Amino acid sequence: MSVEIRALSSDELPQLMDQLSYAFVNNSRLAERGPDDDPPILPEWSTCAIVDGRLATSFAAFPFRVRLNGRSTAMAGITMVSTNPEFRRRGLLRSVMTQALAEERDRGQAIAILWASMGAIYQRFGFGSATTHVSYDADRTQLAFNSGERSPGRVQLMPLAEARPILQAVYKEFATPRNLLIQRAGGMWDVRLRETPGHRNYFGVYFDEADVPSGYVQFQLTTEQVDRGPDQVLTVSDLIGLDAQAYRGIWEFLAAHDLVYRVRWDRVPEDDAAPLLLQEPRQLGRRTRDGVWMRVTDVESALAQRRYGDSGVLTLAVRDELCPWNSGVFAIDAGGDEAAVTRATSSTDADLTVDAASLAVLLSGHRSATQLARAGLIDATGPAALRIADRLFATDYAPWCADGF
Ligand SMILES: CC(C)(COP(=O)(O)OP(=O)(O)OC[C@H]1O[C@@H](n2cnc3c(N)ncnc32)[C@H](O)[C@@H]1OP(=O)(O)O)[C@@H](O)C(=O)NCCC(=O)NCCS
Repeated sequence: MSVEIRALSSDELPQLMDQLSYAFVNNSRLAERGPDDDPPILPEWSTCAIVDGRLATSFAAFPFRVRLNGRSTAMAGITMVSTNPEFRRRGLLRSVMTQALAEERDRGQAIAILWASMGAIYQRFGFGSATTHVSYDADRTQLAFNSGERSPGRVQLMPLAEARPILQAVYKEFATPRNLLIQRAGGMWDVRLRETPGHRNYFGVYFDEADVPSGYVQFQLTTEQVDRGPDQVLTVSDLIGLDAQAYRGIWEFLAAHDLVYRVRWDRVPEDDAAPLLLQEPRQLGRRTRDGVWMRVTDVESALAQRRYGDSGVLTLAVRDELCPWNSGVFAIDAGGDEAAVTRATSSTDADLTVDAASLAVLLSGHRSATQLARAGLIDATGPAALRIADRLFATDYAPWCADGF
């Protein structure tokens, strides 16, 4: 049996697409592709296992730039992971992952992120939970605000061509200070805004009192079979408010859809304001599960690219079997926005000892060092070290990724 781990050629991409539509039958992104559409990746983004000349394991990584606590950071957006069932459980994904993580490090992608079909697949490779995937399934009639005045602005429905530049500008301003939002390139917007049969996109833009756009909502309307009364479902695919008035104005606009009985929004930020603002927060039907998983491919570089929550000095001992170049002790000298990171020589006096997965949780800002220590996932020299780490790794916003990939 001959096994090659390599990027596909462009001639081989149709095999990749065939394998993916077999592995992910209900994946809407793949299902919506026409037969003549270009494959959604470039061949050089793939790292695949070819067994005796046949594609066995598919794997690719989008070259994203992602906000990391307000910093633009190169990240590998891992996608299209599957092994043809003929070849499963023979270590092929392990071989692909080992090579791909090293290649990502060499390309300057010190961090990899992905959405997992199952956490078990990736935790063994040092991926840690980096976001909570929150979704709402709200009763539209219960979207009343608990206090305060109506929003002073207005929401206007706009056709795509007019809305698109506004959406892109508002999103960019919104994403800049945030944590784990992807800097959407033109191609990503094309995919997000594309209409498919039966799924028309509507765009509501919020204009403030000075008539400046400061928020928007992208949504679809469908109907569902219900016994009586309003039967429409409004599904939000993007909702951004640059300030509290814009955010409120958009919800007021959604609540004004009298024939809608459910408002659904998948991929809501964990720190979204709606539960604080509504009279009946539980009527949001808020549900949570694991979201994006993160893997650090280059500890020294990733730590240096991070914006920190405070000034301070901390040493981290990292254990990483899959990416052995990451094992060692790293001293962080953070001055808030800027940090100097150096590799230390001895592991004896590190303040914290972490494995690759816990490091990712910490780096993303998803959970604090104290929470990880309480769960028995990291070792600390004492409460003082944990307090410093909590301050340093605190982020301005909860990590949130609004895009599937
Ligand atoms: C996940 C998948 C790609 C694994 O491919 P594979 O080549 O069989 O994986 P490997 O043989 O390299 O296994 C790697 C390790 O993960 C484990 N593993 C693999 N699939 C797993 C699963 N579904 N659940 C739990 N553990 C799994 C293996 O036991 C193995 O553990 P080990 O290294 O400690 O022995 C394959 O099962 C698959 O295609 N699944 C369906 C598609 C899918 O879910 N893709 C992920 C999309 S995010």
